[in-house]
Amino acid sequence: MQVYHTAAELRAALSGQTNTAFVPTMGNLHAGHISLVALAKQHGHPVVASIFVNPLQFGAGEDFERYPHTLDADCEKLAAAGCDTVFAPDVAELYPAPQTFTVCPPDSLAQDLCGAFRPGHFSGVATVVLKLFNLVQPRVAVFGKKDYQQLRVIHELVRQFNLPIDILAGDTLREANGLAMSSRNGYLSASERIQAAQLQRQLAAIVAAAQAGERDFEALCATASRHLKMAGWRIDYVALRDATTLQTPTPGSTRLVVLGAAWLGSTRLIDNIEFTLLGNLP
Ligand code: PAJ
Repeated sequence: MQVYHTAAELRAALSGQTNTAFVPTMGNLHAGHISLVALAKQHGHPVVASIFVNPLQFGAGEDFERYPHTLDADCEKLAAAGCDTVFAPDVAELYPAPQTFTVCPPDSLAQDLCGAFRPGHFSGVATVVLKLFNLVQPRVAVFGKKDYQQLRVIHELVRQFNLPIDILAGDTLREANGLAMSSRNGYLSASERIQAAQLQRQLAAIVAAAQAGERDFEALCATASRHLKMAGWRIDYVALRDATTLQTPTPGSTRLVVLGAAWLGSTRLIDNIEFTLLGNLP
């Protein structure tokens, strides 16, 4: 496995490749990231992973400064997973000058759900992903459903800018107690890690109630929020949406997603469950 730190080296190494499968990451890799590499390997060659903690997608007061940098351990995991190439630039390499030209996703995606609580976040994500796509020029790129709204943003980026890239979605890998694996789980104390599985359980309870015929989705989400609050969480949102548009479900919606974002202490966690609704919407 080759590791490159500059755009010029990466471009030279990938020149002439037409079947590249790309997995962008911010490093501090866990088994969820590695499952995306496995998916990428099934769909293209070479497999390229990027490791870059992107300052543009962090807001003031967020965890950019404390985000873990674990390049050596990450490279070991990627090599073991059969990744061919790693691109690990530093900030000055990817942003030699201030990035004043940015990609602004539509408000319906960027200002809603996580976007409402993290102003500029999805613009930062879309901008760095477009830059990385231009450098790697992949045929396929793999993203996790764990970051469901991000995945929708990337789908729209590719569709609306006619990028010749197939986006593949990887399922969320979880700890044994149901907690979605995340680089940010490292911020949790041992007791918080146990408690953190409550988010997934409350989302699952909403899905179960919807499948049992409950159609007052707002009430279901409010109940889940209340339970989490009583258990000590600070809620950003719990919402049930159409899985494709991320808007409020319409009578035509069958594929739905329930999403939540909430804080345990100083750690913000997100999770979601995609499902096909049994029965009709009113
Ligand atoms: P990062 O949080 O490192 O995640 C990299 C990829 O791993 C994303 O596509 C994310 O959805 C996926 N992922 C995270 N946890 C996962 C899990 N438990 N199971 C499966 N996949 C999981 O997302 C980013 O980085 C950045 O925003 C990035 C796209 C790299 C742009 O900077």
